[in-house]
Amino acid sequence: MREKIEKLREQIHNHNYRYYVLNDPLISDYQFDQLLHELQALEEAHPEWDDPNSPTHRVGSDVTREFRTVAHRFPMRSLGNTYSMDELREFDERVRKEVENPEYVCELKFDGTAISLTYEWGRLLRAVTRGDGVRGDDVTDNVRTIRSVPLQLQGADYPDFFEIRGEILMPYASFERLNREREEIGEAPFANPRNAAAGSLKQQSSAETARRELDCTLYALVGESLPFETHYESLEAARRWGFKVSDQVRLCRTMTQIEAFIAHWDHARYDLPFATDGVVVKVNRFGDQQQLGFTAKAPRWAVAYKFKAEEAETELLSVDFQVGRTGAITPVANLEPVSLAGTTVKRASLHNADQIALLDLHLHDRVYVEKGGEIIPKITGVDLAARPAESLPLQFITRCPECDTPLVRDEGEARHFCPNQNACPPQIVGRMVHFISRKAMNIEGLGEETVQLIYDAGLARDVADLYTLQREALLALPRLGEKSADNILESIARSLTVPFPRVLYALGIRFVGETTAKTLAEHFGSLDALRSASRETLLEATDVGVRIAESIQAFFADPLNRFRLDRLQQSGLQFETVAPAQLSAQLQGLRIVISGTFERHSRDQLKGLIEAHGGINQSAVASNTDFLLAGSGVGPSKLAKAEKLGIRRWTESDLEAAIAASPEMPNAATQAQSHGAESAQKEKSDQNNLTQGVLFE
Ligand code: IVH
Repeated sequence: MREKIEKLREQIHNHNYRYYVLNDPLISDYQFDQLLHELQALEEAHPEWDDPNSPTHRVGSDVTREFRTVAHRFPMRSLGNTYSMDELREFDERVRKEVENPEYVCELKFDGTAISLTYEWGRLLRAVTRGDGVRGDDVTDNVRTIRSVPLQLQGADYPDFFEIRGEILMPYASFERLNREREEIGEAPFANPRNAAAGSLKQQSSAETARRELDCTLYALVGESLPFETHYESLEAARRWGFKVSDQVRLCRTMTQIEAFIAHWDHARYDLPFATDGVVVKVNRFGDQQQLGFTAKAPRWAVAYKFKAEEAETELLSVDFQVGRTGAITPVANLEPVSLAGTTVKRASLHNADQIALLDLHLHDRVYVEKGGEIIPKITGVDLAARPAESLPLQFITRCPECDTPLVRDEGEARHFCPNQNACPPQIVGRMVHFISRKAMNIEGLGEETVQLIYDAGLARDVADLYTLQREALLALPRLGEKSADNILESIARSLTVPFPRVLYALGIRFVGETTAKTLAEHFGSLDALRSASRETLLEATDVGVRIAESIQAFFADPLNRFRLDRLQQSGLQFETVAPAQLSAQLQGLRIVISGTFERHSRDQLKGLIEAHGGINQSAVASNTDFLLAGSGVGPSKLAKAEKLGIRRWTESDLEAAIAASPEMPNAATQAQSHGAESAQKEKSDQNNLTQGVLFE
């Protein structure tokens, strides 16, 4: 069994590598999940063979911790910066004074946060942040969740013990997603992917880091007696061992070659999926590096060339003030379209009132726009000489542009807010959009546009109205056919089974994101308990600080929120954590493996149903499995194994029938209960006839 576990781990490590490092998966996501579930089940059954580097630990845990500070074996230095070709030429001349015919390696300078990884016998031992360069924070558990970081190296020619350094990055796509989510719950968005990567790495819960979708690129092997002559060779070896090493690495012998590399990436970098802020030029031969040595702060054998942020000049035409779901006001500049870094820019973010004041913006100013690490460009300055004499300073609005309510700005908040949460249209619509989103109530068929239609037509003015929507009213909406209307209604009805933590998240309490909602649901167990919790009790929950506690109390203090909650409760939403096995004993003791996708329930819901009726949800088919609950796309290996072991197959309807069957009837559950597990096994064929089980041919 131990061999089987190790083989699975190796297989999964390899598939992870193909997917996250090579970008070339061999199997489907679904097949991958099957392997992972199989491993999870075996590990659950054999806790004695647990391994912190098992791929099952990639999902992280909710255990919170303090980070331990660790001294670096070799200090983590920074690089000297250069901003012009002249400065770079001076670097080359300094090198040539000490080294004959130097060879250089040109690399991209990744704009994330530095990390040092230590491997022992090919296994990840420790991951430490740069800190002050001498000591950093031990963030191993969080780094383990980053899929492109190998937990177990490939091949056999790696040193027994070594350190490798690189950059933890947040790709733009993840950055945008994270910021959208943060805006949704009223958290200030991260200014750029670098801050987001650094913040995500220092999360208290590694499950949260796992959600942040970080990436890691390695660029330097560190050690006393590395078996290589050159930096380039060491990068190639690291790539072979399974590390993600950039393909954009070039060997150069002349300044002309270095200049060409820089000129290329100065533009091509805008096509990369992550942020870069320059090029790093390193002396290639380790012998030469040693000869050149270090200054107090940086190596003499390497230097960074920083890209100039691309800038354009244009006219500020007007400013829009947008109202977000939480009422936060974001000023956005409308610009005379101008071409910048390969795209046409028409709008720029102005962030908040302070930013406008700092720039001293006037309408119709000539402004400079820059594309930094962010996708949305920003205004960095004003051409004062070009300012028209009669122009007026830009005024921040004092009333909400949507509902005319006077805006407020809380102490310490950079942003203005519209406090009219319950009647300001974009706030209501935004709240509904959040409520129906996939990670909240997951109401399919209802998108942002349809929600707006429903709102505009007056069919729903509050999330609670969704549960009283009438078919006829939906059909009267423009461009909405019968099928769509039925889909929406079915999906709304299905949302009644969404578990409490997600309902809590869906309510959109300020600062209560997905993770906090989960912790609160676990800690308090029900909405009533949370509602009546004192400030002190709230603060006792993991990760809940004063800001969250106050926001929760303010939420429940609002009579309109209380009214909405009462209505939602009457509609039948899950307002408490359902304790497993409380509904019935219809599946008592039955071991059921779920595989595939189902028409009426998600897999999580099925798992909940099985447990609520006394069954055991097994992750992998084993000889003691009672049923394989098979949906469409059932895993072929699970199917084959079930067939071999003579295990019966259940459909979604079989499960529903077994749960619904009256306790007086001699059905699967009662028999299993009265005869115990062993005899239940023997009587499987009888049971199946009663529960319309499908026999294998
Ligand atoms: S080499 C001894 N290579 O830039 C020098 N650093 O200012 C070791 N960085 O802290 C660094 N991309 O976080 C190196 N290709 C690259 C890099 C890189 C980004 C960062 C790194 C370092 C900082 C130096």
